[in-house]
Amino acid sequence: MTTVRIAPSILSADFARLGDDVAMLEQAGADWIHVDVMDGRFVPNLTFGAKVIETLRRRTTLPLDVHMMVVEPERYFDDFASAGASGLTIHVEVAPHLHRQLGRIRELGLLAGAAIDPSTPLSAVEEVIPELDLLLIMSVNPGFGGQEFIPGSIDKVARARRMLDAARSSAALEVDGGINRDTIGDVWRAGADAFVAGHAIFSAADPRAEVSALRNRCAHLV
Ligand code: DX5
Ligand code: ZN
Repeated sequence: MTTVRIAPSILSADFARLGDDVAMLEQAGADWIHVDVMDGRFVPNLTFGAKVIETLRRRTTLPLDVHMMVVEPERYFDDFASAGASGLTIHVEVAPHLHRQLGRIRELGLLAGAAIDPSTPLSAVEEVIPELDLLLIMSVNPGFGGQEFIPGSIDKVARARRMLDAARSSAALEVDGGINRDTIGDVWRAGADAFVAGHAIFSAADPRAEVSALRNRCAHLV
């Protein structure tokens, strides 16, 4: 059985109570904290940077899974590493030197991830599989929380699973966008092993219970 890693996205947290929300997620059994960095250029929205990563690092021992929706992401690698990020995931659409950029992330001692938008083919990462610790399949167009899951992502995850397995890669296969109780089972069955969820967790009556509910949706499908 594959591992199931639930990575709540703090994009949907109450920013005025970020520390409390992260402590709650840790108690709830979250595996990673997903940190969505947006620059207002690659995506329309703006979120946060190194200062918030550093603050989170002081409040939790969970891995900080940093999703960089930014152009020229390498400008921030050093700062984010010093701030305490555990992994940095960059978008191939704005990474013209992906091989070098992933190598640099690893040099800093962090897990190296590549993310692909719904319109980006898997072939965009095919040549860098040995350099990947994580492959992130976007199941919405990045930029906002609370969007609807794009159904075609399930087949893309299945193809990504086959591609990673064929290359004997042990990279995590993460899915991000519109993950909830209704969608997580299908992507888990397709071969994903890490699941980002923002809206589903933070809009739940009991966010703590939602983390387990999402995990159980995978386990119950075995
Ligand atoms: C979207 C972000 C996601 C987002 C997921 O651009 O990368 O991580 O927070 O949010 P939900 O689970 O609300 O779709
Ligand atoms: Zn994300």
